[in-house]
Amino acid sequence: MGRAPNGTGYELSAWTDIIPESEIRRLLRYNVKYYFAGGKPGILPLETFAKILEEIGAEQLEQINSSKKSAVLSCYNYGVTAGWPPLRELLAKRLINDGIPLPKNLKEAKDKVVITTGSQQALFILGDILIDPGDIIITTEPVYLGFVGPMMRFGARIITVPTDDKGAIPEYVNAAIEKAKKRFKKIPDMIYVIPDSDNPKGTTIPMNRRKALYEIAEKHKILLIEDAAYREIQFQQKLPPIKSLDKENKWVVHIRTSSKEAAVFRIGYTVLPDDILHDFLKSKGYIDLTSPIINQVLLKKYYEKYFDNVISIVVDGYRRRCNAMEAAIDASFPPGWRSYPSGGFFIWWESDNKSFNARQFLEKVALKNDLSYVPGEAFYPLPEFGYVFNPETNCIERLKKPKRNTMRLSFSFLNEKEISRGINKLGNILSQHLKS
Ligand SMILES: Cc1ncc(COP(=O)(O)O)c(C=O)c1O
Repeated sequence: MGRAPNGTGYELSAWTDIIPESEIRRLLRYNVKYYFAGGKPGILPLETFAKILEEIGAEQLEQINSSKKSAVLSCYNYGVTAGWPPLRELLAKRLINDGIPLPKNLKEAKDKVVITTGSQQALFILGDILIDPGDIIITTEPVYLGFVGPMMRFGARIITVPTDDKGAIPEYVNAAIEKAKKRFKKIPDMIYVIPDSDNPKGTTIPMNRRKALYEIAEKHKILLIEDAAYREIQFQQKLPPIKSLDKENKWVVHIRTSSKEAAVFRIGYTVLPDDILHDFLKSKGYIDLTSPIINQVLLKKYYEKYFDNVISIVVDGYRRRCNAMEAAIDASFPPGWRSYPSGGFFIWWESDNKSFNARQFLEKVALKNDLSYVPGEAFYPLPEFGYVFNPETNCIERLKKPKRNTMRLSFSFLNEKEISRGINKLGNILSQHLKS
């Protein structure tokens, strides 16, 4: 039973009482000088977007004046739930070039690409159509908080598996599945990984592990969710996506977003196995009917005419920001461990001092000093939903508590100078705090 808001006669649904709001949403409310919290893109080709808007405006005025109003009207109207077909066709072409096995005929290929209102919506819909209370998800520790939140809301039991500097470890994933089958008398329902520069650690899964993960999904007949949010923000040569191995389009969902590589237009795009496409669209239809069309028109022009010329400049910029953050952490932070991102937007830091509480430090010290980051505990399920695979005992155990001595720092939003200043400031106050 849910909570009754004070003075009302009605009750909210039960999950609202149990699951807190997203930490990133909460931290977006603080307007601090040194913002290292959410993965907000900070390198945006603003002039290009302004130019595209001008182009679209001019084209539409011409169409209106030459009695072709209906084409313009459709940009401001409800569209098909799967997204604006011309954008889906263009994305299908790009995805094929990136190794995604789609039909060569682009008209057919586009039917397998679904636009969502942000890739966050794709994650939510997957929970909506795949997860019943008590269902089991195997994922990494730590794990993207925007995935864990919705899955807890659907009542999943989330088993996390330790990671190293190359991300998910297939042997542990396989062992966790075997153990879950015995303990819960049930085949897990989903494996979730972020193979390219994951959130929160920035690590990339090497090819042999990608193959092993695909084989595990196929062998156990479990759907593998490949969240490729940072696929375009890579500081090294890109590896083939796990989806490239799924030749029959059966076991892997490949999720992409324009938020990191273009701008926050709230447009994600997903390639789904045929078996779940219909239900995915059914759920999306109930959530939003359709994603905004005009944003898709804008994005199509961007991908078509500008993206390939701009992306290397954008990636270079993020690489420099990452380098600035790494140097400042190494110079100023107290003893601890940090990740070495291969791309993406984030560095993960763990203090050697196990009793350090990064959430308390954020609330009591960092925010007051104009600094923000995301405390690492947000990247764990709540204990009510969480299990861990322990390789030492080869057992699944209840998650007792998340690692509180950790934090995720985003280098995407501020420029190099601001990053150096902010991180040095954070490092100095952390060092003082951990000495006392
Ligand atoms: C791994 C990952 N997946 C999905 C998302 C959702 O992004 P969007 O809804 O903007 O596409 C994010 C955003 O930070 C992310 O980091």
